[in-house]
Amino acid sequence: MVDGLLQVEGGRPLTGEITVRGAKNLVPKAMVAALLGTTASVLRNVPGIRDVEVVSGLLRLHGVAIEYDEQEGVLGLDPSRVESAHVADIDAHAGSSRIPILFCGPLLHRLGEAFIPDLGGCRIGDRPIDFHLDILRTFGATVDKQSQGIRLTAPSGLHGAVIELPYPSVGATEQTLLTAVRARGLTELRGAAVEPEIMDLVDVLQKMGAIISVDTDRTIHIEGVDELVGYHHVALPDRIETASWASAALATGGNVLVRGAHQSDMTTFLNVFRKVGGAFDVREDGIRFWHPGGDLKSLVVETNVHPGFMTDWQQPLVVALTQAQGLSIVHETVYENRFGFTHALCQMGAQIQVYRECLGGASCRFGQRNFYHSAVISGPTPLHGADIEVPDLRGGFSHLIAALAAEGTSRVEGINLIDRGYESFMSKLKALDADVTRLA
Ligand code: EPU
Repeated sequence: MVDGLLQVEGGRPLTGEITVRGAKNLVPKAMVAALLGTTASVLRNVPGIRDVEVVSGLLRLHGVAIEYDEQEGVLGLDPSRVESAHVADIDAHAGSSRIPILFCGPLLHRLGEAFIPDLGGCRIGDRPIDFHLDILRTFGATVDKQSQGIRLTAPSGLHGAVIELPYPSVGATEQTLLTAVRARGLTELRGAAVEPEIMDLVDVLQKMGAIISVDTDRTIHIEGVDELVGYHHVALPDRIETASWASAALATGGNVLVRGAHQSDMTTFLNVFRKVGGAFDVREDGIRFWHPGGDLKSLVVETNVHPGFMTDWQQPLVVALTQAQGLSIVHETVYENRFGFTHALCQMGAQIQVYRECLGGASCRFGQRNFYHSAVISGPTPLHGADIEVPDLRGGFSHLIAALAAEGTSRVEGINLIDRGYESFMSKLKALDADVTRLA
């Protein structure tokens, strides 16, 4: 069970301004990249979230000296004394994260070996690591599955490879990049993911001395180099957190300025937000999102890899769609099992049904299988307070939004899970005039 109990008195519009800092899905990877340098790196715009703590702990276990100024968001990483860590220590530190799998390539280059514990991360499907292990084997690593985790070795180094991904996986693309930059010779990655966070990681690696080119057809070429140095980089802002606050503004009939938000990484979200009936204003210092009054409109949306509508935008938006006029359809094509959070919304008065079929558009790889991966939302339905439990990071934030939009009192259990990816969300809620009290 996850800790943290929050009481929410709902029915008040979220109003005010908050700031988003660096992306949860870039910062930990840029931290791992620092392992590849011979000199120290400095990462800026680093949010105080638990994933950053977890990865800092793991890097320290491997001898990386870390200094973090949370107020300024500046993280210094000095990898000049990298060494092997004890298996039990790694296991104890890594519990809640999938990032450890990305340590493999850098550690194999630095030490010739790596140990990866059983991985955590949100329970949103099987979340396998088969692509990662296949990639590492193709680079020349030996993979040995043991009872506590996976031991990898590459005593004579790693070599460039031709890799074709079965699906444009974010993690598998990052695995390839972090391994290929120091592998001997050329690597060609076909079917790569091209999310903005990946392009930001490419920028980090290029600053370190890597040679990487990204073609228009999802092919990435990497020329391995003998040495990489430290970097100075400002992490791109978190477009998932931005969209979460935008959906919260819409669902509660509020008005929220998200300082630090970038338009260009969010084009697809902004289009959908406007089609549902939300209003926004892109400013120099961020984006303001608000409910302009009148009915919200239902729509059909399908999650997809970039530049499609992100899977992580889906859950907060679904809460806003419960307030839209008519039937909306959301087809989840990235994860097979990401609608578990809708049970709690139904308990609060929403009308949402989930289906195994691919609804609303093209069929996806989950279509002929037993996964409830399409949702039909019928609105508008008034929401009422309830006692609910947070299932995972994004689903949990959606529960929070639903509780804020609902009339009456809700108790949301397990909110500590939200700290993984939403910096200071309690103080941000208070800054937006939400009536929330932490009970435990
Ligand atoms: N997949 C496999 N085998 C693998 C790896 C992935 O089958 O070895 C499948 C997954 O099961 C999934 C699909 O490929 O169905 C896509 O997974 P991907 O590898 O792209 O996801 P990830 O790298 O594990 C990152 C983010 C997720 C985000 C996805 C998609 C991080 C730490 N996590 O996960 O973020 O949803 O990309 O954009 O970067 C979140 O922030 O809450 C979150 C879950």
